Amino acid sequence: MSAMSNLFRGPWSSTARLDGKTVIITGSNTGIGKETARDLAKRGARIIMACRDLGKAEVAQKELIEDSGNQSIIVKKLDLSDTKLIREFAEVIIKEEKQVNVLINNAGVMMCPFSKTADGFEMQFGVNHLGHFLLTYLLLDLIRRSAPARILNVSSMAHTWGTINLDDINSEKRYNDRRAYGQSKLANILFSRSLAKRLEGTGVTVYALHPGIVQTELGRHLNTPLRVAYTIVKPFLKTPVQGAQTSIYCAVEPALENESGHYYSDCAQATCSRTATDDEMAQKLWELSCQMLGITWE
Ligand SMILES: NC(=O)c1ccc[n+]([C@@H]2O[C@H](COP(=O)([O-])OP(=O)(O)OC[C@H]3O[C@@H](n4cnc5c(N)ncnc54)[C@H](OP(=O)(O)O)[C@@H]3O)[C@@H](O)[C@H]2O)c1
Repeated sequence: MSAMSNLFRGPWSSTARLDGKTVIITGSNTGIGKETARDLAKRGARIIMACRDLGKAEVAQKELIEDSGNQSIIVKKLDLSDTKLIREFAEVIIKEEKQVNVLINNAGVMMCPFSKTADGFEMQFGVNHLGHFLLTYLLLDLIRRSAPARILNVSSMAHTWGTINLDDINSEKRYNDRRAYGQSKLANILFSRSLAKRLEGTGVTVYALHPGIVQTELGRHLNTPLRVAYTIVKPFLKTPVQGAQTSIYCAVEPALENESGHYYSDCAQATCSRTATDDEMAQKLWELSCQMLGITWE
């Protein structure tokens, strides 16, 4: 879809309610995640904002409560760049929450300089893919008990920029910030396909999606020429509200109840790259992710 048509695209419209449902949204203190939280709160859901910056998250929480009139919006600390902290977050959720009906793996970092997570994973692969892979694994029993339930992985059209580099998954031999981001977003789609197969018949469905090109803080690591280009095209990009629509659609659209493992864009099923439909690669990525995280997940 062209940037110009994004400018005039209104919000996807549905009156579906989520009263009595609990939704976790990672990275919901800003951008697409915050607007997704705002909309789902207005539909009556209990919202758990899973954020690493508690100060920023509490400011957003206050705004969302005032705007939605929904008091059931809470903030919990989650830093996806440290598996110990992901485990701590999951323990709190399992202890305190009776159900999780929707998990939205939304948080992301794009094209940052080379750095590593606390566990030594390349930052983009570690946060965008492995962090969410582990989080989903840890919460899955609770999500299964909460069925019908949905798991969303916010990917990107940038999945076409990369391949899964099994020989150098942490980009230690050679780092290219753009390819590493592409690899992590490709991993989001392959993970969704594999997870959907494993969850067949459980009432838990899985969706990968591209939100569009959206005016958010995601470009914070871009170099100066790209920042200048970004400033020029910014008015033509989707607003965060527009960018949240496909996440909202995948979270609430009743017609999607029997669809799982697919890729969505502009509130409709979309075509992803051939590499993103390679089930052999999806299985290899699954095994590698388990091995890197030291977990057993058949
Ligand atoms: N914007 C676009 O054009 C676009 C296009 C395609 C896909 N996407 C995807 O959409 C998702 C949301 O991005 P956005 O555009 O809304 O970007 P954003 O405004 O930068 O928001 C990203 C969120 O992720 C959080 N985050 C980053 N690293 C984290 C970590 N280690 N642990 C926990 N949270 C972390 C950020 O927290 P802090 O505020 O603490 O940094 C922030 O809340 C991402 O997955 C992105 O890849 C965006």
